[in-house]
Amino acid sequence: MIENIDPDKLPQHIAIIMDGNGRWAKKQGKFRAFGHEKGAHSVRKIVEACAELHIPNLTLYAFSTENWNRPKLEVRALMKLLVNALKKEITTLNKNNIRLNAIGNIEALPTGAKKELKEVIAQTQENTHMTLTLALSYGSREEIVKTIKEISLKVKNNLISPSDIDESIINNHLYTRDLPDVDLLIRTSGEQRISNFLLWQIAYAELHFTETLWPDYTKDHLINAILDYQNRERRFGKTSEQLNS
Ligand code: IPE
Ligand code: IPE
Ligand code: MG
Repeated sequence: MIENIDPDKLPQHIAIIMDGNGRWAKKQGKFRAFGHEKGAHSVRKIVEACAELHIPNLTLYAFSTENWNRPKLEVRALMKLLVNALKKEITTLNKNNIRLNAIGNIEALPTGAKKELKEVIAQTQENTHMTLTLALSYGSREEIVKTIKEISLKVKNNLISPSDIDESIINNHLYTRDLPDVDLLIRTSGEQRISNFLLWQIAYAELHFTETLWPDYTKDHLINAILDYQNRERRFGKTSEQLNS
């Protein structure tokens, strides 16, 4: 129940691995693309729910670096869906004062998708209520490799010395440099793995796995996940006694 949510203990950053579109479609005897379309409706509902619940940061895993290995037809359908969704949702984003952001190797996206994405990012950049980040062509290992390359170059050019390298320097080179660490990571569809998502950023996240397939995921499921999160004791290495004294 929404009334049970403690407004003082809200996760500041929720990340979701939206999984199960294909299985959802298969269950209805439909093509996988149909599941992705239905999944896009869940995206809208969950974005609106997070805005309503005052979650300042929501990050959605929409397409991984590994997803490029799917059949060409499915990749094409996903990219087309992305362009259509961006075109359609710009008004909803502005109405809800939501800023769109993207992480991942955006340059790898098809021209049309890249253009639409950059446009919606530009048109929502002044919005302040919530940051919605889409992970697109995102892979955490790719992100870490990119980070190491950039930092190495700075060392080589004598801009920093190896002893300057600390967690904050690494953080500042990640795609997520402007976002706080993830507090709550949700994965739908029953799979219990991370699939190359935000490895650095989830170091101390609470993990919530649910059997629900993404196209069936609703605001009530999200509320349940937040309540589950609020019932955890986040110790960050300390003892329970230390936290409660
Ligand atoms: C998640 O659903 C969407 C993407 C990965 C793009 P899937 O397409 O992975 O659905 P399942 O896991 O095959 O059911
Ligand atoms: C993870 O889902 C990627 C996204 C949700 C975009 P996958 O369905 O691709 O993950 P694996 O391959 O089953 O781990
Ligand atoms: Mg999957």
